[in-house]
Amino acid sequence: MKTGTIPRSGKVVADQERAGTTEALSRVRSRSAPVLAVVNRKGGAGKSSSAMNIAGVWGGWGLQVCLVDLDTAFNLTEACGYPVELRTDGGDWLSTGHVEPWPVPTMPHCALVPSGSRLAAGVERMERLAIDRERYLGKLLSPLRTTYDVLVLDTKPDLDLSVTGALAAATHVLAPALTLPQPLYGVVRSLGLVADLQEGLPDLRVVGFLPMAYNGKGLRPASLGSLVEMAAEYGVDCLPPIPFTDHAGKESQSHTPAALAYRNSPAGHAYRCVAALLGASLGLAVPVEWLGRGRQAQAEMVREIMGGEG
Ligand SMILES: Nc1ncnc2c1ncn2[C@@H]1O[C@H](COP(=O)(O)OP(=O)(O)O)[C@@H](O)[C@H]1O
Ligand SMILES: [Mg+2]
Repeated sequence: MKTGTIPRSGKVVADQERAGTTEALSRVRSRSAPVLAVVNRKGGAGKSSSAMNIAGVWGGWGLQVCLVDLDTAFNLTEACGYPVELRTDGGDWLSTGHVEPWPVPTMPHCALVPSGSRLAAGVERMERLAIDRERYLGKLLSPLRTTYDVLVLDTKPDLDLSVTGALAAATHVLAPALTLPQPLYGVVRSLGLVADLQEGLPDLRVVGFLPMAYNGKGLRPASLGSLVEMAAEYGVDCLPPIPFTDHAGKESQSHTPAALAYRNSPAGHAYRCVAALLGASLGLAVPVEWLGRGRQAQAEMVREIMGGEG
C-alpha cells in the first residue's frame, strides 16, 4: 500500500515546510502546469462534481485553475453557470482551435473552457485527423499550461477519442467513483485504458481513486473497502472519501461548489483534504494544515479497512 508515498515535494505554504517550498517553487516555474484528467468509464460516478469542487478549493487557495469540460453532455459547463445563450456555440473551440477560457464568476481564480452543442463536431474533427489524433487536444490546451497553475479535464463516460485525447493531454489521472458497484467497475475499465496508453505515455500517473458520496443513501461501506483494496492492488493511492451531501454540485442553483458554499460541512472538509493531497501530488502550493489532515484521514481509512479484515 502506498499511503505513505504521497510526495512531500508539493509546494506548501507554511514555515515548517520552507525547505520543500523553495525546492518545489523553482520546479513549478520551470515547467508547464500539471494537467489532471478526471476519468471513469461510468456516468454518474462523480467526475464533474469532484472536478468542480476540487477546482473550487484550489482556486480558493489562490491557485489559478482552468477547468475544461470535455463531456458533450456539458454538465460541468451548466454547473459553473456558463450563460445559456452562449451554449449553442459551446465547445466550438475544439474545431476552431481558439481556446478562450471563461472566468467563472462564482469560483475565485477558476476559469472554464466550456462544452456545449458544438463539442461533438470538434470530436468528429479529431477523429478525421490523419495523424496524431490523440495528441490534438493536448496541443490545443498546451498554451494554457503557461498561464494557469493547473488544468482539470472533466471527461465523458466513454472510452472514445475525447477521453484518449484527454489522457494524452494529461500528466495525472484521478478516478472518482461513487461507492457503488457500477462506478467501481468503471474505474477498472478506465484503468485498462490508461494501461493501454501508458506505452506511449510513460509519464502519465494515476494519482488516485476518490470514493464519492460515501456512507449515505444506499452507499455501501463494502464498496469503499473494494476501492481501497483495488487501489492497493494497482499501487495507487485511495484518497479519503467525500461524504454524501445534499448539495452535491450540478444541481446547485448558485453555481458554487458545495466545498465553497458549505465549507464547514463534512463534504467541504473532505474536499479540502483531498484537494491538499492531490495538489501535493501535482506539485501545487497547498496549505500544510490541510495536507496534514488529509494524510491523517487517509491513513485512518486504510487502517480501518485493511485492519478490519483480520
Ligand atoms: N458527495 C456527494 N453526495 C451525494 N451525491 C453526490 C455527491 N457527489 C456527486 N453526487 C451526485 O452523483 C451524481 C453524479 O455525479 P456527477 O459528478 O455528475 O458524475 P459524472 O460526472 O461522473 O457523470 C450527481 O447527481 C451528483 O449530484
Ligand atoms: Mg460528468
